[in-house]
Amino acid sequence: METAGNRRLTDHVRSNWRKAVLVCRKCSKKLDGGFGPEGNERLAKALRKHLALKKGRKAAAGIVEVNCLGVCPKGAVTVVNGAQAREWLLVRRGADLDELAETLDLLQDRIAVS
Ligand code: FES
Repeated sequence: METAGNRRLTDHVRSNWRKAVLVCRKCSKKLDGGFGPEGNERLAKALRKHLALKKGRKAAAGIVEVNCLGVCPKGAVTVVNGAQAREWLLVRRGADLDELAETLDLLQDRIAVS
């Protein structure tokens, strides 16, 4: 039987993420694609593919779609770099993914997986 004395407040799950990037899912839906070589992919997926990141916790970085962040820009996607959460990015349709990865300090993660 569990008593109050041996109940832990948290458990831990390991991940390989060096950092986390939050991408607004609703902005991405409104753009209906807009990124990747064909211009028909959502930003989070295009960026993960561009960096050849593994899936889920095994990736070197987490690029995660989240609910509306309350900025709601026209023609762009709101992105939060977890390591620099005080300045959010508004990423325009068709933005250069190398430049974005550099801005988000994700290029190191691509090198780590290649
Ligand atoms: S729809 Fe993306 S921030 Fe609101």
